Amino acid sequence: MTKTIIPYLYIIASVLFIFGLKMLGSAKTARRGNLISAGGMLLAIVAALLTSGLSYQWILVGAIIGSIIGGVAARMVKMTSMPEMVGLFNGFGGAASLLVGWAEYQKGIGFDTMNSFSFQSVAIYLTVLIGGVTFSGSMIAYGKLSEKITGKPVMFKGQQVINTAILLALLIAGIVYTMNPAAHGFIFLLIVVLSVVLGVLSVIPIGGADMPVVIALLNSYSGLAACAAGFVIQNNVLIVSGSLVGASGIILTKIMCKAMNRSLANVLFSGFGSATTSSGGGSYQGEANPISAEDTYYILEAANSVVFVPGYGMAVAQAQHVVRELAELLEANGAEVSFAIHPVAGRMPGHMNVLLAEANVPYEQLTVPDDINPTMEMVDVAIVIGANDVVNPAARDDEQSPLYGMPIINVDKARTCIVLKRSLNPGFAGVDNPLFFNDNTRMLFGDAKATISSLVGEFKE
Ligand code: TAP
Repeated sequence: MTKTIIPYLYIIASVLFIFGLKMLGSAKTARRGNLISAGGMLLAIVAALLTSGLSYQWILVGAIIGSIIGGVAARMVKMTSMPEMVGLFNGFGGAASLLVGWAEYQKGIGFDTMNSFSFQSVAIYLTVLIGGVTFSGSMIAYGKLSEKITGKPVMFKGQQVINTAILLALLIAGIVYTMNPAAHGFIFLLIVVLSVVLGVLSVIPIGGADMPVVIALLNSYSGLAACAAGFVIQNNVLIVSGSLVGASGIILTKIMCKAMNRSLANVLFSGFGSATTSSGGGSYQGEANPISAEDTYYILEAANSVVFVPGYGMAVAQAQHVVRELAELLEANGAEVSFAIHPVAGRMPGHMNVLLAEANVPYEQLTVPDDINPTMEMVDVAIVIGANDVVNPAARDDEQSPLYGMPIINVDKARTCIVLKRSLNPGFAGVDNPLFFNDNTRMLFGDAKATISSLVGEFKE
């Protein structure tokens, strides 16, 4: 009876995943979409547990330990550390798939399927390969995002040759292994090791502003690894959910590449911002013009149109709520207010959208660079809140700049640009910003939340 019911439960779970995913496409339905997907996952887990022959005691031990670690980590993580956490989760997904493939290999030895070429052996090979690359690649991405290791690309002579050699070795090892898996235990271990090494070597040369692409790509890999693991253990819901993650990750990767105006191959192989490629680009000199909160108030008070451009610093300062308050005061004062969101602002896809939604900023006020840029010359004041790389005019004007070609929000074209940050330090990509020295730029130094709060105070007085 339970055996017949399981496939139906899996189908319902898959449908819930698909509807949930679709609902994540809009801020209005995203929360419900998340709940529906979580419901689907619960159903899938219950259905999987109905499978006969499971050793429940070990599942229980794993579930308890995993829930405690996951629950505590999710409660303790700061909002600004979410991207690293997502990186870690991607990596764990890859490791889980690798272990499933490995366990099924060990379990299968002694059976006929492991003595000759079979679909099962190919599925195990792919699971271990993609799972291994995802695991170690995500760990490096985690290290870079959390600044535990250098965020700059690490390049060395012959790197591409070594990577190609490892890829070739993995291909040959894969062919040898799949022809007779049981006889090639050593080759199997070699595949595990080489996959993990390949993950490290393919992520270390990527850094600077290109990290969004890597994160999206690793997310996609974690889905593909799960999908392959689904084939190994012949679990349909794992195949469906893995494919959904894999496909949506690839779409996100494409969106991120477009946001950087770069091809995927260029991101993966060029070592953007490395010592060898970023030698160009000016170290911009000039006199930055500081401004006080009081004087900023006078400018804002007279403004008819104001565009907020949030960036990673807004997340660090947790300034989103006071920003919404200031926006409301400006509107009440008669100004037209909008928020220009760059696709790679912050440290994870949709980072700024999440923060502004949390602060109840109306969705209609959000706009994207393509829409806001043509009107920027008519904007009275552009307020940059802890954004840096995504408003760096060198990306548009300086061919030598490592950022050159990345679309930006043209805040320098507004009548007045006010930049809120604590110093003249560069942003994530480590590239200096000539915006700070423009005649129409004013630097409002300080923590973004404290600064905006004092502006709110000025308006309320
Ligand atoms: P960034 O270029 O990283 O600049 C953030 C700025 O915020 C810094 O210059 C910093 O200047 C300022 N800041 C930090 N704490 C602050 C505080 N408490 N108050 C006020 N300002 C503060 O940010 P961005 O413009 O959002 O660009 C994002 C960068 O991250 C891009 O290079 C992007 O490629 C990369 N990245 C993005 C993602 C995704 S998916 N979005 C993932 C990985 C990497 P001070 O120190 O002077 O205050």
